[in-house]
Amino acid sequence: MFITFEGIDGCGKTTQAALLAKMLEEKYEGKRRVLWTREPGGWTGGSWIRERILEGNLSHPMSELFLFLVDRCEHVRREILPVLDDDGVVICERYTDSTLAYQSWGRGIPSGKIETLFEWCSFPRPDRTFWLDIPVKKAMERVCLRGGRDRFEAAGYTFLERVRSGFSYLAQREPRRINTIEASEEPQVLASTIFSLVEVSSSH
Ligand code: TYD
Repeated sequence: MFITFEGIDGCGKTTQAALLAKMLEEKYEGKRRVLWTREPGGWTGGSWIRERILEGNLSHPMSELFLFLVDRCEHVRREILPVLDDDGVVICERYTDSTLAYQSWGRGIPSGKIETLFEWCSFPRPDRTFWLDIPVKKAMERVCLRGGRDRFEAAGYTFLERVRSGFSYLAQREPRRINTIEASEEPQVLASTIFSLVEVSSSH
């Protein structure tokens, strides 16, 4: 089972991915492996690419896109596929929908071209995706509370509004895969909603 978490910075993905990983580990009691990972840089040896990407000093949006794709090719082959092939569960923070929302809606690269690259790379499709939706202003308040204001300001309010509308478009295009979760709710409430949706999809 391949589960992804998506949303703008500050939406609470990490908290929810951690809670879901814990609940699934308790449920499977070691009988099924549960991998909790993230992009960019979620593979052994991948921290260099994460650092290069997050430095953000590239001069062309395509350079950034290709770095995300290199990162994902390695992440998929080294970490994700071995667990899926062994009937395990993968929980990944950010994946292909982030690339579409940020690099297409955010940076203006045509989405059809990005999706062609996804096909060339044979990225596996998530079984279920949780888009944690939150207004940009609210996300900004959360990020400022944990001292990340500079980064938010660097990204820009209108950029993140475009990214959010990208996620919204994708959620409407693929409602069976992507669940929209109202992320302003209490973390424990969200976690039990998410867990029950995973239970439903794993019973099919
Ligand atoms: P990160 O520190 O992981 O942020 P967060 O905790 O919000 O996930 O930084 C990842 C950044 O990279 C984030 O701003 C989103 C961006 N990103 C893309 O632009 N495209 C992508 O394909 C991915 C995976 C991430």
